[in-house]
Amino acid sequence: MMKNDKVVTPSPLVLPPLPYADSALEPVISANTIGFHYGKHHKAYVDNLTKLIAGTEFADLTLEKIIAATAGKPDKAAIFNNAAQTWNHTFYWHSLKPKGGGEPPAVLKQKIEASFGTLDACKKELAAAAMGQFGSGWAWLVPEGGKLKVVKTGNADSPLTSGLKPLLTIDVWEHAYYLDYQNRRADYVNAVLENLINWDFAAENIG
Ligand SMILES: [Fe+2]
Repeated sequence: MMKNDKVVTPSPLVLPPLPYADSALEPVISANTIGFHYGKHHKAYVDNLTKLIAGTEFADLTLEKIIAATAGKPDKAAIFNNAAQTWNHTFYWHSLKPKGGGEPPAVLKQKIEASFGTLDACKKELAAAAMGQFGSGWAWLVPEGGKLKVVKTGNADSPLTSGLKPLLTIDVWEHAYYLDYQNRRADYVNAVLENLINWDFAAENIG
């Protein structure tokens, strides 16, 4: 059983509520961005998935099972993309919080220091992954072999399809930052890492 289950709705057919008000991440992420990103993009992934799985073998599966069953199958790409993006976005909203950033809880900080040397080095790796992802995608902090590492994925893909259970993510699709930062992805990523990243959520996800 994944610890992350608690933030993911058991039914893929429901848009999960945002864990805060749409203006709660200002000034780093505006209510306008949240209005489009959550209210239009995330909702569209849920709505598309609902239509795509209606009457199929996937209709009664959890989101995680739909993702696992369709990953890497070209004829199921539309279902995979919308299911994975539904999961990724719910996970992303929880990876942020008002007045985030700062110091991680001790249990997480120890793992970060054992894996990267310093918290600053970990944040630099997350920023480098976020910047290094060409085009749309995601930067993730994931556990591996008792330590932590940073990975990036393209488009809808996530570490779940590699058997890794992520601790947190940063969305680097342009829709995540363009209204507030235009093409300045680095400014968005650095502001998120300094002011919004939810280390408490990441600590809860340590297996
Ligand atoms: Fe997004």
